[in-house]
Amino acid sequence: MHVIIDTDAGVDDSLAIVYAANSSELQIEMLTTVSGNVPVREVTQNVLLLKDFLQLKAPVFSGAEVPRVRKLVTAPEVHGEDGVGGYRILHNISKNDWETGEAANKIVEAARRLRNKLTIISIGPMTNIAKAVSIDAEAMRAAGNIIQMGGVFFGYGNTTTFTEFNIFVDPDAADFVLNEGVRVKFVPLDVTEKLFMPRTIITSLFNSSKGMDSNLKKLLKQATDYYILYHRVTEKLDGCYLHDPITIAAAVNPKWFKFVDSFVSVETKGDHTAGMTLADFRKRKQKGNSEVAVSFDAEKFLLDFAKKVFGVKISSSVIRKNCLRDRNYPKFSNILE
Ligand code: BDR
Ligand code: CA
Repeated sequence: MHVIIDTDAGVDDSLAIVYAANSSELQIEMLTTVSGNVPVREVTQNVLLLKDFLQLKAPVFSGAEVPRVRKLVTAPEVHGEDGVGGYRILHNISKNDWETGEAANKIVEAARRLRNKLTIISIGPMTNIAKAVSIDAEAMRAAGNIIQMGGVFFGYGNTTTFTEFNIFVDPDAADFVLNEGVRVKFVPLDVTEKLFMPRTIITSLFNSSKGMDSNLKKLLKQATDYYILYHRVTEKLDGCYLHDPITIAAAVNPKWFKFVDSFVSVETKGDHTAGMTLADFRKRKQKGNSEVAVSFDAEKFLLDFAKKVFGVKISSSVIRKNCLRDRNYPKFSNILE
């Protein structure tokens, strides 16, 4: 499958890129960058560094510096000032060898060329995707899949009470894409937070890892430690979530996910609710414009992720005992009634 990864890397984005690079199911056409977790100049440097460590051939194109309408909000407290937990700052690394060409233009070119053979996996704010839609909505509608890590439909958000970070940063981009009739497959927090990685499990994955480039391992370890520290201090959780790797998994093996056709809207104006995502699963007034993931096989994903990223076979019983979380959201079947 031909994929573009649009990213605001980012700690979990970095893990996602490694997972994608090690997944033979995916052929990475290019990586495109966008401001989100950190400003795009930091993101692009992180992606270039990962590209070196992974010896990836795919080109990297830099994209939007600021959201469509709003001022940029970043999350250095979650990902570090450089987006990788301080690894690039510590080692004084700066990278400037990205390709010429603007991310949105390159996304459109690929959509025109590959049409329904192209899957775009967006693991950051939707600013580049919206820009690509504004350039050629028809080509973007014809793309095979746009998979977006974003939104929260049943539970609480991770940025404000009712918003998830990627959509909160650029709600106008998400709203624009949907209003242009471009279907999106959302992988929301409701799904990604069903898997929690305790610190002890992550540590043992790093300790027993096999075949990982030693510099890549140092980067991922420092970045993940920082990310875990944030979860510990702010959310009183000793571990972290894998939002972006799980989103990659929706392309690696769609059968692990249950997506439901739905009409999704994004709040762009509310003082308290801007960035909120709403899904009408009943579609009484409108036909569905999107699909929303409502469940996924966390166990199968984690077995695959541990094998491809760390070269480790993790046992199913360890996963079941430590990593699966039932957030006790309303049952989907009740919502349909
Ligand atoms: C999303 O926001 C970012 O902080 C993560 O990288 C992920 O893409 C989770 O809400
Ligand atoms: Ca991200």
